[in-house]
Amino acid sequence: MPRHFINLSDFDAETLKGILKHAQELKAKKFNPPQLFKGLTLAMMFDKLSTRTRVSFDVAMKQLGGHTVVMSMNEMQIGGAESPESTAKVLSRFVDAIMIRMSDHDLMEELAGHAEISIINGMTDKSHPCQIMADLMTIEEKLGAVEGKKIAWFGDDNNVSKTYEEAAPIFGFDFVMSTPFNDVTPQDAARDADVLVTDTWVSLGQDGKAIEKFWPYQVNRELMDLAKPGAIFMHCLPIHEWEEVTEEVAKSPASVIYDEAENRLHAQKAILAFCLEDVGVEI
Ligand code: CP
Ligand code: NVA
Repeated sequence: MPRHFINLSDFDAETLKGILKHAQELKAKKFNPPQLFKGLTLAMMFDKLSTRTRVSFDVAMKQLGGHTVVMSMNEMQIGGAESPESTAKVLSRFVDAIMIRMSDHDLMEELAGHAEISIINGMTDKSHPCQIMADLMTIEEKLGAVEGKKIAWFGDDNNVSKTYEEAAPIFGFDFVMSTPFNDVTPQDAARDADVLVTDTWVSLGQDGKAIEKFWPYQVNRELMDLAKPGAIFMHCLPIHEWEEVTEEVAKSPASVIYDEAENRLHAQKAILAFCLEDVGVEI
């Protein structure tokens, strides 16, 4: 059974912390990257837009000596008559791992069930585990151990917030959400928080969604002022300017959004190495 990376809840804390430690080691070697993936190929399949996920996986593979093939799912046979089983089995004969961004989480699990190589979740409508690994790496860098931290989420309840919820009991942090769907006020969530985090109110595939109910949850200076001294602001990007966060906060010294984006590259390298260990990659 290949090592898939689809749900954070599939792993224990020790495994995920080991991946983050490796990510920090690889970041330290970013100008002299070890050629761990020599001769290996990652395929990437997308049914949605992407900048960070696509480029960071591509560069991660190539910097460590590997190759990539990028495919838009509407140009593949799986978008037509070919079954998930056939697609997974054929790609397993060509490449060494597949990173997939697709809306349908169950379809990704189905592909993984048939694949003879690792499947990595590059975001579904249910979760975005690679993003949360990069986020936790960033929090550790900026604030030290993530365990015991208060991470406050504002706005929509979506694939990114759900993955934070999944990660919280594994890593031992306190995840407090303030959304139109619960009773926690933004002020209560922000008070004494170590990290304030938000995401777009209109995820990919939700064009035309009404956003009025989210305005009270915008991350602004008043909320940042309630947080702990030294608290940081995070966002997976892209930001819908300037809805879920004010320009003032996103561009303030507390904002670590571009370090967070950079860490996608380093976290991805370590996730790939973890999955490819099965085919001989040495960690
Ligand atoms: N944060 C993130 O996943 O960005 P992309 O949609 O650009 O990949
Ligand atoms: N929640 C957003 C995250 C984008 C990286 C979306 O699904 O579009």
